[in-house]
Amino acid sequence: MNNKWWKEAVVYQIYPKSFQDSNEDGIGDVRGIINRLQYLKDLGITVIWICPMYKSPMDDGGYDIADYYSIDPIFGSNEDFDELIRKAEKVGIRILLDLVVNHTSDEHEWFEEALNDPDSEYRKYYHFVKGSNGRPPNNWRSYFGGSAWEPVPHEKNTFYLHAFSKKQPDLNWENEELREEIYKMINYWLDKGIAGFRIDAILNIKKSMVRGRLEPDGEDGLVYIGHWIMNQPGVQSLLKEINERTFKVHDSFTVAEAAVPNDHLDQYIGPGGFFSMVFDFSYTDIDVNETGDWFKPSGWTWTDMREKIFINQEITQEKGWGALYLENHDQPRSVSKYIPKHDINQYSKKMLGTLFMMLRGTPFIYQGQELGMTNIEMDSMEEYEDIATHDQYKRALLTGLSKEAAFKMISKRSRDNSRTPMQWDDSEQAGFSEGDNTWLKVNPNYTEINAEKERLDDRSVLNYYKKLIELRTTSNYREVIVYGKFVPDRTANDQTIVYERVWQDTKLLTAINFTNEKQTITIDENYTQVVLSNYQGVLINEKLCLRPYESMVLANR
Ligand code: NOJ
Repeated sequence: MNNKWWKEAVVYQIYPKSFQDSNEDGIGDVRGIINRLQYLKDLGITVIWICPMYKSPMDDGGYDIADYYSIDPIFGSNEDFDELIRKAEKVGIRILLDLVVNHTSDEHEWFEEALNDPDSEYRKYYHFVKGSNGRPPNNWRSYFGGSAWEPVPHEKNTFYLHAFSKKQPDLNWENEELREEIYKMINYWLDKGIAGFRIDAILNIKKSMVRGRLEPDGEDGLVYIGHWIMNQPGVQSLLKEINERTFKVHDSFTVAEAAVPNDHLDQYIGPGGFFSMVFDFSYTDIDVNETGDWFKPSGWTWTDMREKIFINQEITQEKGWGALYLENHDQPRSVSKYIPKHDINQYSKKMLGTLFMMLRGTPFIYQGQELGMTNIEMDSMEEYEDIATHDQYKRALLTGLSKEAAFKMISKRSRDNSRTPMQWDDSEQAGFSEGDNTWLKVNPNYTEINAEKERLDDRSVLNYYKKLIELRTTSNYREVIVYGKFVPDRTANDQTIVYERVWQDTKLLTAINFTNEKQTITIDENYTQVVLSNYQGVLINEKLCLRPYESMVLANR
């Protein structure tokens, strides 16, 4: 067994704009995080991943960085951040920052110089490419819609590449000088004492440039850029170099946003791999089609979901270590995605928590997930802040959907669903801010769903998550939950998800009913102990009857 502290960690993801405001400007900040460390400690969290807090014009929620070395004033100062590291360490919480190095902001000084001066050495830090007679080099669609090429002002026929918004120009990783600058920056933050990084869009850093018009795949005449910039041949040698020059030196904890093909996975997450673990998208993106169009539903079923989870667990266990998550700042709330609206209740919320927290891998809980926060119902497109939401809406209209239909589809998937302010209590602005306004609307259900109310209720979703965390971190079952072998049961009732975890003589069985009807499963007679259940009064029998959305964990001793 290859023990590593981060395999035993429970990570909590913070979207800083929405976590806790401390200065009444309606935007969360570093001091707000400091003020909530005790809450995280009480929950049992051992690591926090904080989404970007660097200086940024916030075109894409901070994933557009203008200065890698400074905390943006809306979040506080570098001194505040140093204090956060110290105070978090005191309560036993380590910190992961977000590493965004596929692109910078167009307001980064490198890009500003590159744009203003065709002879600047910084031109080579980005992808400035000549077009054909004033037309872009090709018809790639950026991930956020529209052409991935932006004309350079006052220069005929020159374009720069942006895989995301035009305010996020892509860095040129072929340039050694650029790479050196990035390694210096990574080591600067690691030297400060952070534990590591969540790594953004990293499979995009290697580009396979092509010229000319490609076969379009959408009504906009453009084609999905991912086929040429995601996971291209040669990306591995870049990742190896990053690892050797930075993470390896510091023995860091790294989790990459990287949908790696299974046959390459061992290079990424195996012993000596580029990263500690990667986020898999297979079951969190189950509701969208493969080019990521929110308005073209995938028609997924829970049976698909079960198989995707099983496959991911089996492969990850064979190759290395995995990261578990149901939510993040790019996803809608998991209860709203996976559970029909009329069935969203404490049983179904706890069922999802059980399903995910008992799997093999390091769990990442997204802020508010532990409260069972849900999607928000916005009244109009104007209420949405998120750049991707507006783009998807425009593209949905282009396909011929009515405004109402497009709005409905987009509302389900908008990234703002998970970015609404954290619901701390039932005071105004949900205890998130004492200001009069918040940067994004507070979900009106905060009077019902909030941390304070749930703290006082033994049967709340929050207290259930606490138990799930305790089981993994301090209980007698912690070894089997962290290190135990994952064994799926593919023969069980297909309206259920049943799997075992096995460690030496200890066996745990997790049984999940993902329907609103009773389901029966047969279990091994050795499972005699109830470790956890989302219902009161559980009777174990060889034939186990699971009530609607019932989930339970049983042990053989
Ligand atoms: C993935 C991040 O999670 C997302 O929020 C961001 O928009 C893109 N990468 C671009 O950085």
